[in-house]
Order: sequence, then structure tokens, then C-alpha cells
Amino acid sequence: SLREAYTTLFLSILDKDGEIKDTADLKHEGKSVDQETVIGVLKSLESREVIKYETISREQLVLTEEGADIADNGSYEARVFYAVPEGEENGISVADLKSKLGQAAQFGQGRAIKNKWIKKSANGGFTRAVESIVDESQNLLRDIREKGAYHDEKVVKDLKKQKHISASKVTSYRVVKGDKFTTQIVKEETDITEEMLKSGEWKTATFKKYNFNAAGVQPRSGALHPLMKVREEYRQIFLELGFSEMPTAQYVESSFWNFDALFQPQQHPARDAHDTFFLSDPATSDRMPMDYVERVKQVHSVGGYGSIGYGYDWKIAEAEKLVLRTHTTAVSSNMLYKLAKEFQETGEWKPVKWFSIDKVFRNETLDATHLAEFHQIEGVVADRGLTLGDLIGTLHGFFKKLGIQKLRFKPAYNPYTEPSMEIFAWHDGLNKWVEIGNSGMFRPEMLLPMGLPEDVAVIAWGLSTERPTMIKYGYNNIRDLVGHKCRLDMVNRNPIARVDK
Ligand code: PHE
Repeated sequence: SLREAYTTLFLSILDKDGEIKDTADLKHEGKSVDQETVIGVLKSLESREVIKYETISREQLVLTEEGADIADNGSYEARVFYAVPEGEENGISVADLKSKLGQAAQFGQGRAIKNKWIKKSANGGFTRAVESIVDESQNLLRDIREKGAYHDEKVVKDLKKQKHISASKVTSYRVVKGDKFTTQIVKEETDITEEMLKSGEWKTATFKKYNFNAAGVQPRSGALHPLMKVREEYRQIFLELGFSEMPTAQYVESSFWNFDALFQPQQHPARDAHDTFFLSDPATSDRMPMDYVERVKQVHSVGGYGSIGYGYDWKIAEAEKLVLRTHTTAVSSNMLYKLAKEFQETGEWKPVKWFSIDKVFRNETLDATHLAEFHQIEGVVADRGLTLGDLIGTLHGFFKKLGIQKLRFKPAYNPYTEPSMEIFAWHDGLNKWVEIGNSGMFRPEMLLPMGLPEDVAVIAWGLSTERPTMIKYGYNNIRDLVGHKCRLDMVNRNPIARVDK
């Protein structure tokens, strides 16, 4: 490549002469070197301390298009002279001169007369006044073109005014040897390859330094994944309804917040490794509020707060186990505990409306509609005296925002809610009731050990993000939407999500 050729050129000159006075004087394959490429090469050599360089800036005179035309084809006055036939007796009429030279005739005849190269003839045309001429203007421009400079300031000024030349800034470089000068340049690696890892070559390879000043590659486009567009829609709906977002930016939770705090017994099948991903390193958490942990243990094993509990031997070892959260309700339980603590400390009760939309993980058998990770949308409202009627009303309000008017509820079971209701919506296209979510009122066994006021009730509901997204974008297979089989251009092809209200 050109860069490699320049590198060799520079290093051999430096090796021989110890210095390159001005890269503007260098030639490669008969042509002046390209200073843009030169600086690229110099920067790379300098970063490895092979060379040092300084910049030389100066003005260079360059011919304009018109100037170049004169340098190539002669001045207009010379063109006029040559257009007039030789010999004093022969002449040319003004009209013929014009048809021969066009505009140049007009520009050149005045000066040709002034130079006494031609003269007016009796019949109104021109005849030659001298035998031969020297075209000084052409020679001057040729000279400037070659040298890029001219000694007489006044001449330069005039030529600029005539727009035959212009000044342009040129940069070139003076180069000397650096502290680590060598003519043996090893190739700098930009990536670690599989081969290098296998052969152990990576240990001795020379790697190119990061250039943090380099302009990055422009992304070809920026687009949200359909799931993220739908998330944004739901987020907007919650915000319009006055909910605030819970902090969900952590995928790992202790079993304590994911299960125990939610009054989910330790031998519940959902805690099985078949359904839950457990962490191995670190495997456990030591960040649980121990006084509250003790109350949770009590309510599970012997009951309290009007409950008989489950009556089993609750073990902290089980609660400590770290898991990839299986539902966003793990965040809700943590948040409600903090709310209760605030109430305990201040004695003041503040009702809340919260939501979250983020990723959860389940060790599922993968199929067309199930992945091991998916997103949940969750709403939580806590206030004094809330009832099942409030939950039903809130759900109607929420789903109405999504354009869903007809809802039905079916009694269900969750360890942490009582009553619990599955939510069904009437689907006009499918002409049937479809399950769209799960909901309930958090149990006193969950809320009272946290320290919430006794008359505070918490209503909550949850749904997946994937399901409405698949319906919205017409996907039958979730693997077309997420995972290694999904086509990435799908993200760009899909329109902006709008949940029709
Ligand atoms: N956490 C439940 C689930 O994973 C959803 C839910 C949230 C149910 C809140 C009731 C209340 O399906």
C-alpha cells in the first residue's frame, strides 16, 4: 500500500541522512508525495517513538483555471498575435479574429496593440507589427506553477487581482529519528484473533494503540427494537396516569426479595432449578436487613399478623441464594420494604403509584412463544383502604389507555396475592377472550412484616412485554423477535410503535 511505501521511504532516508528537511520535497514514483498520507504515516510512526516530526506551514501560489489555461495555451494577446497572418501586408478583419478566437480576441487585442505586436490596418483590421514575440505572461505563470512562489510581491498581487493565481496554505513536515528509531517496522495488530489465542502469539504481538481522537464510524441508522418501542409506549401510559418508574437496573436479586419477602414458601416449585437460574459465583447475598429477615422467617414458619403461616423450617441459606430475578415483583417487594421503613422512621404515610418494565429470567423450555428471558410490565398502587374494586377500576383505566375496553377477571392463585385474578381481554380479531395478565392484592403476610400501616392495601398487576409486541407486529414465533435467529434488519424495517387508543 501507499502507506507502507511511504514508511519504507521515510525510514530509509532517516537511516541514511538522519533527517527529512521537508516532506514537500519528497518524490515517490516520480510524483510529489501526498501530504495527507504523509501525516497519517508520521502519526503512526510517532506514536511508536520511531520518529519525531514538526509541521511546516507555508503559503503556496496555485494557478486558477484561467491561469492554467494561459500557462498551457498562451496569453490572450499572444493568441491574438498568432491569429494575425505573418507579413505586414496580410491582415485579419476584426470579425474574423473574433470568430477564430472567441472571447480571447476581445481580451487580447488591446494588450497586443499596447505591446506593439500588432497594429490597426487601413481597412479597419489588424496586421502584425513585429516578426516574433515572447509571451512573458505565459512564462510567468508557468514559472509560478512550477515553483509555487514568486519573488515580486507586486506582480503576485496583480495576478491575484486578475484571478490568474491564488494562494493556498500547504502543510508539510520536518522529520527526525525518534528514541526508538528502527527501520524494522513490525506490523501492529488491531485485533486479537482466534489463531493468536491458540498459538500464544498474542503474548508477544505488538498491538496498535487506541486512538481516542479518531472520529468514530457513523452508525448507519439508529432504531429501537420493537420490544423497546412497546416498552416506551407502556412507559408513556403509566406516566400519563401519574405512576413513577421503579429502579430495575439490576438483574440479580437474592431469593429473599424474589421469593421470601413475597411470602413464597421455600419449597415452592418455582424455586426449583428447573424454573429459576441460580448464580454460582457469587452464589449468595449478605445484604439483607436482618431484623426484617427475622420477621419474614417468623411469618413463614409460625405465622403472625393473623396468619398461621406455612409451618415449615424456614432457612436463611435458601433466602441468601442469588438468582436472576424471575419477575419484576422482586423490585416491587424491595421498594415496598423501603416505603415501610420510611413510614416507620417518619410516622408519615405517603401513597404511591409505581411501575416497572424490564427484563426477567426463567429457566423455561424454549419454544415458539417462550424464551429464557423476557420483559415484564408491572404496576403497583399502595394506599390506605384500597379494595378489589380499586384494582378492577385501575385495570380498566390502564387497559383503556391501550384501547382495550372489555375485560374479564378469573380467580387465580399467587403465593403473594389474595385475592388473585387473571386478566382476560376481548380480542376482536381472534374473536375470543385472551389472557393478558395477572393481578392481585398483596397479602398481609407480605406487607405487615415490612412494617406498612395495617390499613394500607397494595394492588398490583403484571404482564409480559413480548406478548403484546408479538400481536402488534404480527410475529408468531418469538425467535423472530429476539435471539440469535432474528434478523437484525427487522429492527430498522419495523415502523414506530403506536398503541391505538
Ligand atoms: N409477578 C407475577 C408474574 O410473574 C405478576 C404479578 C404481579 C401478579 C403483581 C400479581 C401482582 O406473573
